[in-house]
Amino acid sequence: NLAGLPTLRGQAPIVIGHRGSSGTRPEHTLEAYRVAIEAGADFIEPDLVVTKDGVLVARHEPVIAVVDKDGKVLEATADVAARPEFGDRLTTKTLDGVTVRGYFVEDFTLAELKTLRAVERLPALRGKAYDGQFEIPTLSEVIALVRDMEAKTGRKVGIYPETKHPVYMNEVAKFNTSQLLIDTLVKEKFTDPARVFIQSFEVGNLKDLKQNIMPGAGVNLPLVQLVSSPDEAPYDWTAAGDKRKYDALTTDAALREIATYASGVGPYKRWIIDAEGRTTDFVARAHAAGLLVHPWTFRNEATYLLPGYRNDPEAEMRQAFQAGVDGLFTDFPATGAKVAGQY
Ligand code: G3P
Ligand code: CA
Repeated sequence: NLAGLPTLRGQAPIVIGHRGSSGTRPEHTLEAYRVAIEAGADFIEPDLVVTKDGVLVARHEPVIAVVDKDGKVLEATADVAARPEFGDRLTTKTLDGVTVRGYFVEDFTLAELKTLRAVERLPALRGKAYDGQFEIPTLSEVIALVRDMEAKTGRKVGIYPETKHPVYMNEVAKFNTSQLLIDTLVKEKFTDPARVFIQSFEVGNLKDLKQNIMPGAGVNLPLVQLVSSPDEAPYDWTAAGDKRKYDALTTDAALREIATYASGVGPYKRWIIDAEGRTTDFVARAHAAGLLVHPWTFRNEATYLLPGYRNDPEAEMRQAFQAGVDGLFTDFPATGAKVAGQY
């Protein structure tokens, strides 16, 4: 009985397809989102960056391929490095204080990006039948897919966009990601607050959405403050050295402050389950501040499971549900929906 779980308002928790069903398809492709919805995801998550001509596309970072000094691809989400005609776009930039050599979305028009194909992020994972088959989708195409799947399945699904590096996008690409996001949602008439959560790591970006951008467009959508890893070892290479910053976002006073502009908080899952595998007081403290709690990222691969769960991703999800989370981000929404279905 999902409604018996200690969620904020006694409602059933949601399963969010993180970058789509990215554990089984290349992340942020329409195919990954379609599979996530078929698997039972309640929401799908597009991370958003801006093209050279000002269109929001679903990619995890502005950079779509990171290369070393010899040109070897270290990480990529599209096959750009294998395209000699784009060689002149290889550049070095600073992203959140980190120097990155690679290819950046903001240096390509949408038409150019549409000639690329999504690939599995790590070279070691490449070569599956679906690898290299799918385009980079725009946010509008993601919304169209959601509508199409709703017509096919009879089930309403929401979207959970993340504005990626909005300060960088403002300064480097000269586009306001959050303004483009709201403009696109309005244009596509996808502004039902029950079907959209907007998430960001950047506090100023969320406050700008709440105080200026959304009122300017006449919409009011729920916002979610992301909070990164409490561990010294960075979960995300862009978050290196951010431990104190994120600790400061999780005190009771900080949670009350977040509740002045956001409806929820999206913590790395270690905030919910500690290094010894015990449930922490985080969910109760966030709920006391009136915040929904949507932790990330639940994955089936052993290497990403918290201590104590090396062989049991379903048990890790069950512990989160029993802790009272209001939803969770997972690369394997089929597993999330299966575990949620056990209550
Ligand atoms: O948005 C929740 C989670 O996705 C944050 O991490 O790096 O996967 O976008 P990331
Ligand atoms: Ca994300």
